[in-house]
Amino acid sequence: MIKTVLTVNPNNEIGTIAPEIYGHFSEHLGRCIYEGIFVGRDSDIPNTNGIRNDVVDALKAVRLPVLRWPGGCFADEYHWKDGIGPLEERRRMVNTNWGGVVEDNSFGTHEFLDLCEQIGCEPYISVNVGSGTVQEAAEWIEYMTAPGESTFSKLREKNGRKEPWKVKYIGIGNENWGCGGSMEPQYYASEYKKYQQFCKDYGDNHLYKIACGPSADDYNWTRELLSHVNKWHTKAISLHYYTIPYDWEHKGSATDFNEKDYYVTLRGTRYIEEIIDKHLAIMDELDKEHEISLIVDEWGTWYDVEPGTNPGFLFQQNTMRDALVASINLNIFNSRCTRIAMANIAQVVNVLQAMILTEGAKIVKTPTYEVFDMYKEHQGARLVESAVFNSETGTDEVRIPALSQSASIKEQNGEKVLTLTVSNASLTDEAEIEIALPEGFVFDGEAAVSVLTGDMHDCNTFEEPDKVKQTRRSENWSGRTHTLTVPACGIVSASCKVK
Ligand code: AHR
Repeated sequence: MIKTVLTVNPNNEIGTIAPEIYGHFSEHLGRCIYEGIFVGRDSDIPNTNGIRNDVVDALKAVRLPVLRWPGGCFADEYHWKDGIGPLEERRRMVNTNWGGVVEDNSFGTHEFLDLCEQIGCEPYISVNVGSGTVQEAAEWIEYMTAPGESTFSKLREKNGRKEPWKVKYIGIGNENWGCGGSMEPQYYASEYKKYQQFCKDYGDNHLYKIACGPSADDYNWTRELLSHVNKWHTKAISLHYYTIPYDWEHKGSATDFNEKDYYVTLRGTRYIEEIIDKHLAIMDELDKEHEISLIVDEWGTWYDVEPGTNPGFLFQQNTMRDALVASINLNIFNSRCTRIAMANIAQVVNVLQAMILTEGAKIVKTPTYEVFDMYKEHQGARLVESAVFNSETGTDEVRIPALSQSASIKEQNGEKVLTLTVSNASLTDEAEIEIALPEGFVFDGEAAVSVLTGDMHDCNTFEEPDKVKQTRRSENWSGRTHTLTVPACGIVSASCKVK
């Protein structure tokens, strides 16, 4: 048994947790868009304008704040004009990055922005730098956001949408150090500056421009990029970091793994903390006023694909191990909320560390989905100081900190509500944690407590969709301390009034 103390200081507010930290990513990859989100108007699967109602409902329930599209690597071979106008006239192409399948462009700009309106989230569009042109990017922005009588607003109207959309987040290229053009950082910085110059604000739409940042621990990319690109050019740079248990050749199975693999995966996911802090330290040097934010716009686990599935579709199951990964990452992002403006887990449906899996009309919410649900009260809340006296866990070979936590405060009806999320990575020991408030504060009433736990291999399948589900209870919390038990391989969220 782990016995410890977690101190929470509501007096020390650190910053606001941007709801966008709970963002998502959708790419034309495997069965993410087609089947997972878009089934077409004629489908028997209940849909609105071809978009699955069950998926939209599930994403609304976790208050999905922002959705990135159309890629990923796909973004740098996507030509937006192929995806507008009458369906039968849309150009077909080969999706060279992902499985070599034919992309019929039936899901394009109108369909994506309709999806965002149905979910109630901000769109985040990645424009094509790798194989596109500045003119193409500039015209896409005009098509989506320009009011009035411009050539592209008239074309938009002809295609069924008179009112311009509001599009805030624009990513200029994706992984331009790799699939987005194999560029050197100096070359990309010049390209970036040119593109951003022609991505204009129309009417009352204001773009938040995002430059392609580093891969994992490529600190040189960050340094070079920010030596050439400044706050006048960009609001943020993006970071991509995937949790791959060993290496690209030995990723391992999503479901068939041992205790060592489990701890190695969690150690790998915790490495993001060091990566983020080192990139932030470089940003501190080159952007002293902190006017450029960091966005982690691809993160999550990447395992071998499920046996028998297309290797280019990146379809993997999702277990309690992934739930722990999600919880640790979200706590890390929360704790750096003064610098991290957004994070997007990869990907939302049927790809990599998915929130949702689909098979025909069936849908499964993964353990990762449960974590996003348990953490949703942090969105828009103010992070407050918290500290835990941690202990180590793992095998003889692999040691990691057992616990991870974050705490935030929100005003509700004039009262302060504290939300606490704690995960326990130990496979053997439950954690008995005394939560302690400082002098002058007490817990005040009913706490809503949710617990997610199970064997590390537990997952939700189409045969057994509810195997891993949070259990909810309410408890009476009073006084300055309360003891919370977090099961082994478990995550707890608790919200309670404090005064
Ligand atoms: O998410 C899958 C791929 O991973 C994305 O297309 C790319 O940006 C990254 O390498």
